[in-house]
Amino acid sequence: MTELKGKRVLITGGAQGIGLEMAIKFAGRGAEIVIADLNEAKLPGAKARIEEVGVPVWAFPVDVTNPASIASLRAQIAAEAGPVDVLVNNAGVVFGGPFTETPLDRHFKTFEVNVLGVVAMTHAFLADLIERPEAHLVHISSASGFIGLPYGSTYAASKWAVIGFSESIRAELNLTGRKHVHSTVVCPSYIGTGMFDGVEAPKATNILEPGYLAEKVVQAVERNRIHVLEPFMVKLTPLLRSLLPTGLSDKLSHLFGADTSMTHWTGHEGEEASEAGEEPQPESRDQPDAEL
Ligand SMILES: NC(=O)c1ccc[n+]([C@@H]2O[C@H](COP(=O)([O-])OP(=O)(O)OC[C@H]3O[C@@H](n4cnc5c(N)ncnc54)[C@H](O)[C@@H]3O)[C@@H](O)[C@H]2O)c1
Repeated sequence: MTELKGKRVLITGGAQGIGLEMAIKFAGRGAEIVIADLNEAKLPGAKARIEEVGVPVWAFPVDVTNPASIASLRAQIAAEAGPVDVLVNNAGVVFGGPFTETPLDRHFKTFEVNVLGVVAMTHAFLADLIERPEAHLVHISSASGFIGLPYGSTYAASKWAVIGFSESIRAELNLTGRKHVHSTVVCPSYIGTGMFDGVEAPKATNILEPGYLAEKVVQAVERNRIHVLEPFMVKLTPLLRSLLPTGLSDKLSHLFGADTSMTHWTGHEGEEASEAGEEPQPESRDQPDAEL
């Protein structure tokens, strides 16, 4: 989609974090913005920030895990905003911690939001995108969609699923002659939004600025790029994993600190605790060094 001016972009999880940053960047290109989020309290502030750019903005509540809520979102958008040209499936959650010590409902919630939410949103809006002269589908996956993530096993698994889903829908659109609906899957390492507070960025990577990643996503849409892998080390990850024997790949992951990066994860809870002047209290998850 070379021209974003006047196009309508719908972003789930758009009330904060990368979703909000992407909304501001898309608005900067002259696109009209619809943000939808579970967190109703944050929607008015986010809407006001995007409006400062000078484009029409709508903000609606949605729970992407609830098909009735998505149907109501779709009806509200049709009545108040108009058809959507770009859908960004961005809403996501993470619950870090040792697998067995993390309650099962949190593992289930991770799949409900990160996978079923993406499937349900795409199911609701894809037919509308196909009706547009040109359209784009963006899925926010993660660098952990290529590699295992200790203390974030179901998060990583959910992001592997998003890559598989995105690849399959893209192929199905091509196969059925809907090449005017482009798609992009975004696989970043850690970004400073609070979602992964407490983590340690693997060596040769840094914690990305949300605005930096948002700009990369908007550029990918403008250039119809299929993948956004950031930072540079993430671009090498799929190649290294397919070339190296698993044992060597595991050793490399440990050497770079990729497998221990989540050890001290606190996420937004840590952010809230430090805002309240408390020390975030991650459970101690120090492990003896794996044998190299
Ligand atoms: N922050 C990172 O380091 C990082 C790295 C790789 C990928 N990602 C992915 O990027 C996306 C955005 O992450 P972020 O860092 O901005 O996180 P964030 O927590 O700041 O924002 C996520 C947003 O999703 C919303 N949301 C959660 N559940 C929802 C639901 N059921 N329905 C509708 N909205 C819901 C939240 O209210 C929130 O506004 C996520 O998919 C995340 O997995 C983040």
